[in-house]
Amino acid sequence: MCGIVGYVGHRDALPTLVSGLRQLEYRGYDSAGVAILDEDGLWIRKEVGRVDDLARSLDGAPRSQVGIAHTRWATHGGVTQQNAHPHTDGVGRIALVHNGIIENMVPLVAMLRAEGVVFTSETDTEILPHLIRKAWRGDPVDAVRAALRQVQGTFGVAVMFADHPDIVVVARNGSPLVIGLGDGETIVASDPQAIVALTRRVIHLQDRQMAVIRADGAELHGLYDGRRHDQSVELIDGDYGVADLEGHPHFMLKEIHEQARSISRCLNGRVSREDGNARLGGFEMRPRELVGVQRVVLLGCGTSYHAGMVGAMAIEAMARVSARAEIASEFRYRHPIVSNDTLYLAVSQSGETIDTLGAVQEVQLKGGAVRGIVNVVGSTIARTCGQGVYLHSGPEVAVASTKAFTSQVAAMLTFTLMLARTRNLDLGQGRSVAAELLAIPEKVAALLANPGPIDDVVESVARARYVLFLGRGFSFPVALEGALKLKEVAYVPCEGYPAGEMKHGPIAMIEKGAPVIVVAPRDAQRDKVVSNLREVAARGARIIVIHTQGDDELAQLADIAIPVPSTPDWASPLLTAIPLQLLAYRTGIALGRDIDKPRHLAKSVTVE
Ligand code: F6R
Repeated sequence: MCGIVGYVGHRDALPTLVSGLRQLEYRGYDSAGVAILDEDGLWIRKEVGRVDDLARSLDGAPRSQVGIAHTRWATHGGVTQQNAHPHTDGVGRIALVHNGIIENMVPLVAMLRAEGVVFTSETDTEILPHLIRKAWRGDPVDAVRAALRQVQGTFGVAVMFADHPDIVVVARNGSPLVIGLGDGETIVASDPQAIVALTRRVIHLQDRQMAVIRADGAELHGLYDGRRHDQSVELIDGDYGVADLEGHPHFMLKEIHEQARSISRCLNGRVSREDGNARLGGFEMRPRELVGVQRVVLLGCGTSYHAGMVGAMAIEAMARVSARAEIASEFRYRHPIVSNDTLYLAVSQSGETIDTLGAVQEVQLKGGAVRGIVNVVGSTIARTCGQGVYLHSGPEVAVASTKAFTSQVAAMLTFTLMLARTRNLDLGQGRSVAAELLAIPEKVAALLANPGPIDDVVESVARARYVLFLGRGFSFPVALEGALKLKEVAYVPCEGYPAGEMKHGPIAMIEKGAPVIVVAPRDAQRDKVVSNLREVAARGARIIVIHTQGDDELAQLADIAIPVPSTPDWASPLLTAIPLQLLAYRTGIALGRDIDKPRHLAKSVTVE
């Protein structure tokens, strides 16, 4: 979603700002803009489209040692050049970029209009430079503080001033900002990805903090009380590399193919075959505390919610602890009952999803304990939870999540083993679970080396008016995930459904030749799924089945059969999801879609 970069230092700001924006492209955006200084004041360019389009418009730009830049994902107002950031005050001396949403936009716009302010965009953001101008008494920090005091909602802002060319002022309430401390230069961004090329020494701005950024560092203050705050400088993890395609045509394909390695990184050092147990140090939970857990609630959105569904089923099946997954955006506003004997797990790739963060804060407010299962190190959810585990998947750049899903499932299965060993799993059973888990990366590698006849499915899916994904038990979240991937990457109308529920409605959608993708590994529910498969086949559906290698009886019932290696039912999503990821990818390619940056989507969803 929207991205911010700001710079003050000794070099020409523009190339640094533009390369920072390129590092944020993966988050999803629809327009981009930059503000620097020339001798008369602000020099601003904005373009609809890609950062490349913006870069092409920068010929003849002045040299400036300060600047701010932005990628916008439209919320208030259409995708137009006027609505792109930066926005300025009426006299063009203050420029500002903003992530987040201003909730009291209507009264603030009315107040400013009544005072004669003329708005040039439809955005909520434009309110801010006008408010700063209105509060101006000569001190930029005081003016920004006075303006933001009037604002309700979430924001991360970076502001520059034509009359104070040596500073950028930043403030945060709900939208992340990271300050990178270089040598005689300081960079700020909404995502460390835009910083790592310049420096790994960073300060994570906290909510309700602001900072004045200068070439020689940053000075932190309380946003509302103005009190000086100490800085805590951290070193960004070595993992946090600048992502590279490494010869693949798209990040999505690269990340699909990384899964044997990413799952293995997630399990290594945590799951022990010999002990028949697992250790998640970051959870900081001793067996005595694990025994006290009566319930587990997994909170997440989109793909992370689907992974949470798999986790909840595994926890119930293996550890016999009541567990459920919740959609974070629903949970946070439901006034949920939070109890001390429940363990809450926040599942998120980016660690910045605002709804998952909101759910975490709601649990914490009600006195509950939340642990994170997060990929991005140092992200807001990871920091807010304090305890938790990192997935160690490496950067996931494609908007459609693939390797994070399988790593999330692997991390939850690791936790499940740990929990189950404190209860009903003996050493021998623990050893066999550990062995099955540790065997997964090899099976994933074998599957990716020979993924089966996926290309035979692509043509019918690409031209279908409707595709149905079916699964039961552990395969139901996989069906949901397969449908989500196909929507995101190929824009093909489809839905995932529990196979047994299909005849209560969706079966009406089946026309002759409609592709129905049945996820049916050899598990306890397999025979029931076969009945559902026959029901749709009898109505003319074209059946594509994902089945366990060697299950020839099932393969023969299908028009196209895609085998996956055999594994216990609780581990099957780690394998059955992979052909569906490849199917979405190849269908997207066949339809000429923008694979890594699908329309309207953002990698990190930081607005509600
Ligand atoms: C799907 C996808 C989204 C994310 C969701 C949560 O491919 O990428 O559905 O899974 O926005 O994001 P995180 O995991 O970053 O909290």
